[in-house]
Amino acid sequence: MRIHDFFQKFEGESFTYNDLICLPDFINFSMEEINLTSKITREITLRTPIVSSPMDTVTEAELAIVLALQGGLGIIHYNMLPQEQLDQVLKVKKFKNGFISDPLTLSPNNTIQDVVHIKKEYGYSIVPITEDGKPHSKFLGLVTKYDYSTLSLEDLEKPIWERMIPVERLSTVVFEEFYSEGYFDLVKANNRLLDSHQAALPIIDQLGNLRYLMTRSDLQKHQNYPLATTNSSQVLRVGAAIETWHDKAIERLAALEKHVDLVVFDTSQGHSSYLVDLIKFTKSKYPHLQIIGGNVVSSDACEALIKAGADGIRVGMGSGSICTTQEVGGVGRAQASAVYNCAQICKRKSIPLIADGGITGSSDMVKAFILGADSVMLGSLLASTSEAPGKCQIKNGILLKEYRGMGSSKAMQKGSSFRYSTQHATIKIPEGVCGAVPSKGSISEWVPCLIQGVKQGFHKLGYKNFSELRCAFLDNKLMLEKRSDGAKKEGSVHSLYEITQDAPPTFSKSHYEDLINV
Ligand code: IMP
Repeated sequence: MRIHDFFQKFEGESFTYNDLICLPDFINFSMEEINLTSKITREITLRTPIVSSPMDTVTEAELAIVLALQGGLGIIHYNMLPQEQLDQVLKVKKFKNGFISDPLTLSPNNTIQDVVHIKKEYGYSIVPITEDGKPHSKFLGLVTKYDYSTLSLEDLEKPIWERMIPVERLSTVVFEEFYSEGYFDLVKANNRLLDSHQAALPIIDQLGNLRYLMTRSDLQKHQNYPLATTNSSQVLRVGAAIETWHDKAIERLAALEKHVDLVVFDTSQGHSSYLVDLIKFTKSKYPHLQIIGGNVVSSDACEALIKAGADGIRVGMGSGSICTTQEVGGVGRAQASAVYNCAQICKRKSIPLIADGGITGSSDMVKAFILGADSVMLGSLLASTSEAPGKCQIKNGILLKEYRGMGSSKAMQKGSSFRYSTQHATIKIPEGVCGAVPSKGSISEWVPCLIQGVKQGFHKLGYKNFSELRCAFLDNKLMLEKRSDGAKKEGSVHSLYEITQDAPPTFSKSHYEDLINV
């Protein structure tokens, strides 16, 4: 049945992803032509429509870096002080620099030991040398690992000027020559770096002062990660969650606004005057900042947040794998119905929708996209990766990672009670549980698998990209059906004694066994 007719017919019924099945349509293209580029806010585009949940067992810098390299986006959680959250954001920002605007510099009179210290402390093996050791002063030369890695202990005490490659022997670029109409020609600069055979290319101004540094290892990273989510200066993008308690939010916004690409106002029920006011305040004070509002599950709520100025809408209440909101308060909505109803308004207003919670694998992602989501937010599927915070432990022969709801008692003690408006309650009833998920290995292997699964779904549906999908949604061309219990059973693996190979990607027993045997 056509999508809008379906939901009209079953008005008043709530559907999960598992309750529905999409019907295939005519294919006239190859799978390689599918492009999953999509928007997460009015102004930010992702090549991989996956966002990590701002939870303290899911997103900190390490996960945000690896996910952004794969084309997704990480949202750093707020169960930490604003300064600590800023440090996490800056770790992501510094990871991969098209050009480094504030390189760590030394003066020629520093010692080689100081260079070694920078390598140990910050991991940078190339240090530009300026006249007074400050980042934007007269550029005198470079020290790279080849200039100090084989030195004796005595040599480490020597001044840098004895070992550095002086500016006269280096290929450099004058900033003004590569810059016009507010745009620095990165491609030309990259080519100059490749031609130079140097480890780094210093970019100086007409007076010879250091402006930026480009490094060969960063260039290599660009080439290895063609999908990476970066801004126009090739710096990785990252978002941060903010509580909706006014004073706290103001403090956190002030700390973060210059550095993050977007903020997510993180509350379990976002249809409120508090959130509307906060979005309005933020839009007027920091107009450059992209804002995601939520969580909501109805078109009225979306409309209120969009009207206040939200650039993206996060949808979901009670569908998360760790969530007890529906059990505690009897409030929420099954996720497929929530996404569809919110998409009605988001699609018409061209505001991206993030389907948050309840995603168990690529099939749910496809269904979320059919129902109108532009990206999905993942909690449990990413908490199980090696980049998520926390260590693995083995239980009953299975490698596990901790995963807990932000409404669990333990997480709320760290600050997230704001998300559930229980910060002042004397008795706090948790709306989430603490648990563990089976470890899945690295995001860099897992996310491409999920994405390939989604592409296989798009292909069968006959859609090449999100813009075709959006038109089909608006024109009521998408087809779906409700699954009976029998249909669900038939649609999963059945009638086998055991699965010996190729279990669906949500369950990868052989992977745990491999890991355990290591
Ligand atoms: P999952 O991907 O199904 O694990 O769901 C993750 C989503 O659950 C998050 O992005 C949040 O929206 C939501 N969530 C996180 N913690 C809690 C909680 O303690 N209670 C209810 N929902 C939660």
